[in-house]
Amino acid sequence: MNLFVELVARLLGVTPAMASDNALRGLYLPPEASTSAGHIDWMFDVILWICIFFFVLIVVLMGLFIMRYRVKDPNAEGPRIYHNTALEVTWTAIPLGIVVVIFWLGFKGYMDLAVPPANAYEIQVTGQKWSWSFTYPTGHVDNVLHVPTDRPVTLIMTSTDVIHSMYLPAFRAKMDVFPGRYSKLWFDADEPGTYPLFCAEYCGTEHSSMISEVVVQEGPEFDEWLTVASNILATMTPEEGGKYLWEKRGCNQCHSVDGSAGIGPTFVNLFGAQRAFGDGTTTVADENYIRKSILEPQSQIVAGFDGVMPTFQGRFNDEELGAMIAYIKSLTSS
Ligand code: CUA
Repeated sequence: MNLFVELVARLLGVTPAMASDNALRGLYLPPEASTSAGHIDWMFDVILWICIFFFVLIVVLMGLFIMRYRVKDPNAEGPRIYHNTALEVTWTAIPLGIVVVIFWLGFKGYMDLAVPPANAYEIQVTGQKWSWSFTYPTGHVDNVLHVPTDRPVTLIMTSTDVIHSMYLPAFRAKMDVFPGRYSKLWFDADEPGTYPLFCAEYCGTEHSSMISEVVVQEGPEFDEWLTVASNILATMTPEEGGKYLWEKRGCNQCHSVDGSAGIGPTFVNLFGAQRAFGDGTTTVADENYIRKSILEPQSQIVAGFDGVMPTFQGRFNDEELGAMIAYIKSLTSS
């Protein structure tokens, strides 16, 4: 239990038994759920306490000096003091020592986080406007990050459009995600639970809803989840599969299934309808239209909407495209 948390706890009237709970940390920091979070929070506390110490020291001394050395006679000439070598060396050497120690501890922590262990479990991450996709070694693609406990996990991340940033506050982990190159982020989750996952780089209109979750599970539970999730389409009708993909692949961020317009057109009563495009042409929304809209969205922008949809080329196979078509068909009333 660190002093600051205890202080806050006492001010709020929280009992010591409750104060020992990791959740109490949530008063000023998210709960710790990775092996590196402890070091980072410890560093944070060290710097915080150094700041508090010097803030109090400087303000108190300033107040005392204002009172003690107040000019009583405005015409009196004060003593002429040019410099004091011992004092100047002291106030240079002590802060220098402090920042060198902070740099060393911070650099060591940074290097530990920058180099993933060789045996880490790898998950591919794709950021796009405005959702996350996590691809597992089995080929399963999910919009929620699942990771096993007590095993280092490396995220290998890229973006299909602009710069995003993967932010996992409970792991104290954050890394930018770029188009056209890969960045890596690793952590070792040690506390089962569900924690928030954010995009921390402004990436356009729906940046603030580019939110997901990381689910930390015990090893065997994670393996079981992955096996079930990897074969899930085989257990569903194409229609159910389409609904599942609509959620899991991030279609739901822009396309509603309740008739309301979002960033993109709704899926309700889409199939078989006449579509008018920004360039004045029209077509009927049949199977080929839906397929093309997923794989080459920029080729046909519906009038009244911005052409912001990224391509899903290579991210939907034929079976999945069929499921999407079946689902969209099922949302047409006639
Ligand atoms: Cu992606 Cu902000």
